[in-house]
Amino acid sequence: MSPLIEMSGIHFGYPGRPPVLKGVDLRLEAGERLCLTGANGAGKSTLFHLVVGLLRPSQGRILAFGGERKAEADFHEVRRRAGLVFQDPDDQLFCPTVAEDVAFGPLNLGRSRAEARAIVADVLDRLGLGHLHDRVTHKLSGGEKRLVTLAAVLAMDPDVLLLDEPTNALDEPTTERIVEILGGLKQAMIVISHDPHFRRRIATRTLRLEHGRLETPQPKCSHAIGEKG
Ligand SMILES: Nc1ncnc2c1ncn2[C@@H]1O[C@H](COP(=O)(O)OP(=O)(O)OP(=O)(O)O)[C@@H](O)[C@H]1O
Ligand SMILES: [Mg+2]
Repeated sequence: MSPLIEMSGIHFGYPGRPPVLKGVDLRLEAGERLCLTGANGAGKSTLFHLVVGLLRPSQGRILAFGGERKAEADFHEVRRRAGLVFQDPDDQLFCPTVAEDVAFGPLNLGRSRAEARAIVADVLDRLGLGHLHDRVTHKLSGGEKRLVTLAAVLAMDPDVLLLDEPTNALDEPTTERIVEILGGLKQAMIVISHDPHFRRRIATRTLRLEHGRLETPQPKCSHAIGEKG
């Protein structure tokens, strides 16, 4: 079966800055929960922005959902089918209330108001966020915003999830809930996380971004032993 996402030989640098990615190869297959780690500034978020076409590589090929993606129009389908949870929730939430933010995606995909209302109620309930339904989004705490961005992406029922540090700012019980939720989802996903414990709980495979390339991490110390990948 062809992979859902395949990147090969990806090079990228921001204008006037040294290269960030120098030959990244990545494949995501159905059913995988691929974790990405790597130092601050290694280029992990940049890699996600390349997958969905917010940035374009200077070299390399991106295949997604069975086709090569080059032009802006090619990436419209990728953005519809790959749900990106941004590292910074403020890049994602822009509606006055939580319910409107979570409804935005389904409405944009052509769902009726009634359908969108039902999806919002269901997704917030699944994430244990029903109490946030009518809250003003920009007045939420950091962790609450994080959870609402995940709800907003799940509401669109994408084929692939791209989660950029989904447990950042979350307390332990909430992180546990995210582990359970992600483990119960049918979608393949790529998850960026600095948390080795979280990665061990959810990953079917882990790669490390280092020196502009993705590598299989070698266990160096006791807490890294057991990391799948
Ligand atoms: N818009 C931009 N313009 C110029 N440089 C940028 C831009 N965005 C990111 N960078 C730089 O590109 C490099 C990679 O950034 P990126 O955000 O992808 O790292 P990251 O691996 O996600 O880091 P973190 O773990 O801190 O989130 C960093 O050196 C960063 O300073
Ligand atoms: Mg990042």
